[in-house]
Amino acid sequence: MRSHYCTEVNTSLIDQEVKLVGWVNRRRDLGGVIFLDLRDRTGLIQVVFDPDREDVFETANSLRHEFCVQISGRVRSRPAGQINTTMATGEVEVLGLSLSIISHAAPLPLNMDDHQNNSEEQRLKYRYLDLRRPEMSERLIFRSKLTHEIRHFMNEHGFLDIETPILTKATPEGARDYLVPSRTHKGEFFALPQSPQIFKQLLMMSGFDRYYQIVKCFRDEDLRADRQPEFTQIDIETSFLSAEEVMALTEKMMRHLFNKLLQVELGDFPTMSYADAMRRFGSDKPDLRNPLELVDVDHIVKDMNFKVFEGPAKDKAGRVACIRVPEGAKLSRKQIDDYTKFVSIYGAKGLAWIKVNQANAGIAGLQSPIAKFLTEDIAQALQDITQAQDGDILLFGADTAHVVTEAMGALRLKLGEDFDLVEDSWKPLWVVDFPMFEEVEGQFYALHHPFTAPRDLSAEALAANPQGALSNAYDMVLNGCELGGGSVRIHDQATQAEVFRILGISDEEAQEKFGFLLEALRYGTPPHAGLAFGLDRIAMLMTGAESIRDVMAFPKTTTAACPLTQAPSPASSRQLADLKIQVESDQATI
Ligand code: AMO
Ligand code: AMP
Repeated sequence: MRSHYCTEVNTSLIDQEVKLVGWVNRRRDLGGVIFLDLRDRTGLIQVVFDPDREDVFETANSLRHEFCVQISGRVRSRPAGQINTTMATGEVEVLGLSLSIISHAAPLPLNMDDHQNNSEEQRLKYRYLDLRRPEMSERLIFRSKLTHEIRHFMNEHGFLDIETPILTKATPEGARDYLVPSRTHKGEFFALPQSPQIFKQLLMMSGFDRYYQIVKCFRDEDLRADRQPEFTQIDIETSFLSAEEVMALTEKMMRHLFNKLLQVELGDFPTMSYADAMRRFGSDKPDLRNPLELVDVDHIVKDMNFKVFEGPAKDKAGRVACIRVPEGAKLSRKQIDDYTKFVSIYGAKGLAWIKVNQANAGIAGLQSPIAKFLTEDIAQALQDITQAQDGDILLFGADTAHVVTEAMGALRLKLGEDFDLVEDSWKPLWVVDFPMFEEVEGQFYALHHPFTAPRDLSAEALAANPQGALSNAYDMVLNGCELGGGSVRIHDQATQAEVFRILGISDEEAQEKFGFLLEALRYGTPPHAGLAFGLDRIAMLMTGAESIRDVMAFPKTTTAACPLTQAPSPASSRQLADLKIQVESDQATI
């Protein structure tokens, strides 16, 4: 039906006839001549209809927004003065010689020109129309190039693309499972995979040694701008490679993607320990474009006669940290109150501050609600450690280490935005040396997943000190977003059994949930390590989209629903009867 895509029409085709198909993006009548912007997935071309071709002109006159049409015409240069340098095809136009309407379009439920007027719900309900907007289609085209490059890179590096099941058993990645009832095994359920973690490890045991898959994962968890219930991982596993080798390889892939698709050189990625990331940035995914840092001042304030600081500074589980904001002394009381409210979301009980009006004037040069608790020595030590300058403000958090780290970490990000300090650049890094476990009220939880190997520890050493154990895991972070994470895996049964024990998983439960994995570990398991990236997150960052929804064709709302298909939806009584499921008003019972 067509000879060219719209944006393939250029000056090399002048005086030639072309056949185009697409949608009416815009129609204008100017002095008896009709101008049409015809759109296809590549972009726009201007088509002109003269009144001297009467029947064609009449059809052109009847065109409305988003009609689907076919046009034949002759390519010509635009007259000087009408050249549009903002349009890829702005030097040429097509003189319409014939026109047929393939499909009419009813009045549209979405505003196609000014999508700001469309609610997110409307955009998702009419996603097929929303995706006609060039901004959206360009992102999906970019995503397609991205997956193409990833496959190319993985194939070049000897990786095999192997599919793993979607109807499977729970994978422990920390979220709730989506369950699928089995008809043939009444009362039993499949779980959709939160990741292909166990299968990729089993593939290593089968000897495939370099596996990858671009694969859907499912997690029933609270949604945010960078989380969807159904998302895509670039899942990777290798045998006989160390953590450093997996990191080098995946870092090379990321450098390749940025170089090829954005012409950006990412350079070598720095490595930072989890402890340093939490201490300096209050986050395990620090945004290094933001120059602000948390500075520990416990040792300076511990003998200060201010209970709010003294208590946490002397307590092993406490923390007193400070952020110096350049030129922050101009903040008003009201603005400081607003920041105090902001940190209270994270449990902080206050936000002490010191304005440095004159840095070399001792306490007299400072202004602060806690001035009366300061001594000249403490004031000087605080200024020295933060390198405070005239006009800066120091903001303090004092509480349990957990609250201070969370609250000041979040405050750091907010201040970076508010003071316009975030550099416009790409700042990747690796975060390593995570603790194996997180301890909450005596119960241990895996910080990654329970198959993550401890760092240089035997099963016995791990059992002796689970609190202090570090894992051989690594996360790739870019501009404050966790792009991917992985680890060296446990490849011996004793360590795996010990980790299950520490996590409070009984032998019976371990057998019931992961017996097949424990058994597989007995038959010649190679050492293996891998990683998974969030493809949607990579696409979001690379396209500058604000939400991962904008790089997915058919995403879900924040309540995990699809306004387009109305999923999830009730099942028919026949289906439920087959499954032996009875639905009560707001809960399902078997
Ligand atoms: P993890 O749980 O860290 O690791 O997931 C890997 C990456 O997947 C992305 N991701 C998500 N993206 C969108 N929406 C979500 N709900 C979502 N959850 C995770 C993130 C994350 O870094 N099996 C391990 C990997 C391994 O050890 O090899 C795993 O799944 O970018
Ligand atoms: P107060 O002693 O409650 O009058 O507080 C004096 C100053 O300390 C105020 O600026 C409070 O915001 C601040 N403050 C109170 N509690 C904390 C805390 N836990 N961490 C940091 N600052 C605090």
